[in-house]
Parts: sequence; C-alpha cells; structure tokens
Amino acid sequence: MNSVPVARDSQAFQRYIAQQEKKSLLRFLTCGSVDDGKSTLIGRLLYETKMIFEDHFSALERDSRKHGTTGEDVDLALLLDGLEAEREQGITIDVAYRFFTTDARKFIVADTPGHEQYTRNMATGASTSDLAVLLVDARNGIVTQTRRHAFIVSLLGIRHIVLAVNKIDLVDFDAARFAAIRDDFLQFSADFGFHSIVAIPLSARYGDNVAERSPRTPWYGGPSLLQHLESVDVTEDLASRPFRMSVQWVNRPDLDFRGFAGTVASGAIRPGDDIVVAQSGVRSKVERIVTYDGDLDVAEAGDAVTLTLADEIDVSRGDVFARSGDRPEVIDQFAAHVVWMHEQPLLPGRSYLLKRGTRTVSAQVTEIRHKIDVNTFQHLAARDLKLNEVAEVHLGLSEAIAIEPYREHRETGSFILIDRYSNATVGAGMVIHGLRRATNVHWQAIDVTRAARAQMKHQLPKLAWFTGLSGSGKSTIANVVEKKLHTLGKHTFLLDGDNVRHGLNRDLGFTDADRVENIRRVGEVAKLMTDAGLIVLVSFISPFRAERQMARDLMKPGDFAEVFVDTPLEVCEARDSKGLYAKARDGLIKNFTGIDSPYEAPEVPEIHIRTTEETIEAAADRVVAWILGRDGADDWVI
Ligand code: ADX
Repeated sequence: MNSVPVARDSQAFQRYIAQQEKKSLLRFLTCGSVDDGKSTLIGRLLYETKMIFEDHFSALERDSRKHGTTGEDVDLALLLDGLEAEREQGITIDVAYRFFTTDARKFIVADTPGHEQYTRNMATGASTSDLAVLLVDARNGIVTQTRRHAFIVSLLGIRHIVLAVNKIDLVDFDAARFAAIRDDFLQFSADFGFHSIVAIPLSARYGDNVAERSPRTPWYGGPSLLQHLESVDVTEDLASRPFRMSVQWVNRPDLDFRGFAGTVASGAIRPGDDIVVAQSGVRSKVERIVTYDGDLDVAEAGDAVTLTLADEIDVSRGDVFARSGDRPEVIDQFAAHVVWMHEQPLLPGRSYLLKRGTRTVSAQVTEIRHKIDVNTFQHLAARDLKLNEVAEVHLGLSEAIAIEPYREHRETGSFILIDRYSNATVGAGMVIHGLRRATNVHWQAIDVTRAARAQMKHQLPKLAWFTGLSGSGKSTIANVVEKKLHTLGKHTFLLDGDNVRHGLNRDLGFTDADRVENIRRVGEVAKLMTDAGLIVLVSFISPFRAERQMARDLMKPGDFAEVFVDTPLEVCEARDSKGLYAKARDGLIKNFTGIDSPYEAPEVPEIHIRTTEETIEAAADRVVAWILGRDGADDWVI
C-alpha cells in the first residue's frame, strides 16, 4: 500500500518526500481495553500500512509461537509489548503516540494504556485528537466502559467517532448482532454532539474490514477502517468559524519589523481585514501575512503565520486576535467542565494557576455545581474532586481574559489548572459559558482612602499571619504582641481561629475543603481590616501553603509576614491545653491537624519562632519590631 522508494533512485525519492509533505495529517485516539483487542488493532494497522518491516515480522512470527495467544497466527499485539513491559516496571507512560502513513494520509494515533483506562490519560491523548476509535468486543456489545469513553471524548470536543465492533468473527459475522450494537451506541450518544459516527464490523486479528472490505461481511456496505480514516473530513468546520489566532510570540528582529506569530485556530484572515485584540479591544488592520515561503493572500485555520498590522498597537504573547465585529467575551467568571488529574483533590476556594493558550492567571473554583458519574452520567453533589473525576464547576479569575465556549472554539475554550507550588498540571477544563453576574458589580470609588485612614491612626497597616499546630502557642504570642502594640497606642485587631469559628465560620468543620474556605474568608476579612487602617494579627492553624500564599497575595509585598510558630508535635501533644490531642488519639475527633490531617510547614517564613528555644516575650518583640518597621521607628508616612 505504501512503499518507500530506495534512496539510489533519487528523483523518485524526491517525489516521495514532496508527496509526504502534501499529505494531510489525521490525529486520532484509540479507546478500549487490551481485551477488546486494542493492541491487536493498532498492530494490525501498522502491519497493513507496511510500517513493520519484514525482519521484524519474521521475529514476530517466532515470538507468537512462543508467547502468543493466537495459536499459529501472528500475534500483532506483541508488537506493542515493549511498551507494556515498561509500564509493568512502573515507568509512567501516559500516552504513546505512533505514526503511520498511507498514500492518502499521515496518521498519529494516541494510544492510552490498556488496563488503566484513566480519565487523565484519555484527556491527554484526546486533547490533540480529531477522531476517536472506540473499540468494543462484539460478544459483549456496549459496556459501561464504552459509555464512559464516549462521554469523555465528547467532553473533550472530539466530534468524529468510529465504533469499531471488533471480534466480529467470534459472533459468526452476524449482521443482526452488529446492528444491535450500533443502534445501542447511537441511542445513548444522541446528545453528545458527535458530527460523524461510523460503525465498522471488524476483526483486528484476521484483518477483516481493517484495510480492505471483507468478503466475510457481505451485508456491510460501509468503508473499511483504514478507508474511512483516509477519507474522513475533520477540518470541515474550522474554516467557516470566526477568525481566532493566539499570539505565540512577538517577532521583532529589528526596529522596522514587528510581527505577531501564531497559528490560525479557526476562520481566515486577509491583508486589509479589520482585526481586534480580544483582551484589550484595541483595533487595527492586517497589513501583511508573512511566512517563511513568502507573503500569503489569505491565512486559514491551521496556517502558522506572522501578521504585521497597520498600527503600532500593544500586543503581547497570549493575546488573541479576532475580527473586530466578532470579539470574544472578556470575562472573569465562567462555568466549565473540569477533569481532575491529580492525587491531591481539587478544593473550592484554593488558588490555582489557570493557563489558557499562552496566558496564565490566578483562578479559584468558586463552586462545584455537581460531579458527573462518568459511568451513568448522573449528577452528584460534591465538596471536592478526586483523581479522574469530572465535574461542572464555576471558576473565578484574578483578571478577565478572553475565553469562549469550548463547543465553539476548542483553543480559546480549553485550559489547564496548575498547582502553584509543584507546577504540576492538576486539571484540564472546558468552558461551558461565561457567567455575567459579577459584571454589574463595580468597584465603588471611595474618597476616604486606605492611606487616609491609616494616617489618622498614625500607623502603617500590616498583617502578621501566625501559623502552627494546635497548641503551638500562636494565640498566646499573638496576644502578647497585641498588648505591646496597644500600649504603644497602635490600633490593632486579633483574629483568632477558635473565636472566628464561633461566628463568621460557624458553618465550617475541619475537612480540607472547609479549612480552605475558613482561611479564604479570614484572609479577606484581614485584608478589609488593613484597608480600615488597622494592624491585623491572624492566628489560625492555616495548615496549607496554598491558602497562606493566597492571603499573602491579597497584600502588598512587605505588608505581610508569615509568623511560623514552630513547636514540635510531641510538645503540643504533651501540653494538650484543650485536651483535644487525647481525644484525637482516641479517635473521638477526626481530621486533627498533625494526627490524621496534614500540616504543611512554611518554607521561608518572615519570622520563625522556635518556642522550645525562645521565650514568648522575645518572640513577641521580634514580631512587634517587624510590624513597626526594621528599626522600630514609628514611620507612618505612606
Ligand atoms: S484551620 O486549620 O482551619 O486553620 P483553625 O485555626 O480555624 O484551623 O481552628 C483550629 C482550632 O480548632 C484548634 O486550635 C482547636 O482548638 C480546634 N479544633 C477542633 N477540631 C480540630 C481539628 N480536627 N483539627 C484542628 N483543630 C481543631
């Protein structure tokens, strides 16, 4: 089907290379388990497209006799065994990409591990795929796993599906069985928004309907799998969509040239067209469309180009270009589907980084609307989101960005969530729609400013954040600090965990999710109090780094100090002033910090108090010194 000319026929070789470059590329994903014959099917595709060389094949014949499960036949699944072996050794390969080509097209197939059909792996493979091959065993028909795969690929915006009804030989090439499976699939996936669903009866093991139509299924009138993959049109809608291009980098080789490089995500643009920067709303006109091979008259979806504009406008990496009449929404709150990919659960209220294209902002999940059971599609209530779970959530961003529904724009509608500390990608998201509710709330301009309020009190507002285990001595030291400041005529307020939990945070317990919310509220209250001109002391266990960072981010650098009251757990437990450790050890109190709930110690606190080495007085003096400025001078000029 596809033979590579030998290198000594150099003209033929050149023609071959030229032809390869012109061929379109189809990226697809395979979903199914080893039992469904997924490895065999991929092996068969590689074999049929001559991607396996003769000597490799002979070796395979030998191995099949030795290890195979197919008797005298060649076990194509063994082709992929190198990879499986690595997996067994615990090497994490989330997704393997394989390349093959025919005369008509080039293909990249994303293969996710067989036995562990984790959502995370599928999401990774699907994010770059245009089509999914869902494999089912003809004997079993549609199973829970098929429904789950179909749902997730639909969520990830894949619009083209092949339902590969494998092992059709094992049901005696039964037309009725095939039709029943196909109809079953069409019925449950009716609302998934697929643009094409092609069901194919096949046998990966014997090759029926893989490359060629099989004489053993005369009742089947459709294409073979390969024929379909070679001809399916997956680009249909992109060109007719509104123009979008995300700026990858600003190309400025010298003072005379300033171009914006990126790949057109959808639509088309010509020199002379009006253009708008989605984020800022600033307009201009396209002057030239520059490429390595010369200027273009038109740039279309998929083209990597550099645009030059008629005006010197402010554009930076991560900005999105659109046509001026069709600017995407610029929003800071929206509803989205999120697939969670990390062992540490998603907690509403926690601050993550959200990356959309080349732009990164701070984001919080303000609400989990519901979790979606990916097996039954049921909506379930949830307070957090665990590894591989999917939910509909509301998100709030630190600043508005151009964002669009994923269903309409895969590029501007998708994002990832990143952990602030480990920098790991913890979630993938797809925008459902913008939330407008906050756009009618504007900052109210206030004439009496923070500075004026502080000046009247003759002080600089500061926030000292005491963190440490229960019983570490936070409140005791904070109390001494406040008394000292008070004596000096300072206006202060001490927010203490035990007290605030009786009022404002009465509704919160000690789960991770509740602690995040506890700290979020206290951080906001403390910030308001500093706006009022006060010196604020916060004394909360605040066990998580992420939330302490969130509180820090509310303040100006230099106005916030993390005070780590560092007392070993054994010492806190020996003191046990409230008798809580004893209860926690007896299992009477759950999720007790240090016992069965974690405490993430500060890495570089501004003030580190080791209570076993320093007196309360000395520690308090150091905090007071920080609050009043390096030298303790009463400098209140702002
Ligand atoms: S935080 O973790 O959310 O910051 P916070 O400082 O508000 O905790 O409250 C801690 C106080 O609540 C402790 O000093 C202790 O008196 C009390 N408490 C009750 N149950 C727990 C628990 N499971 N873990 C920690 N503290 C608890």
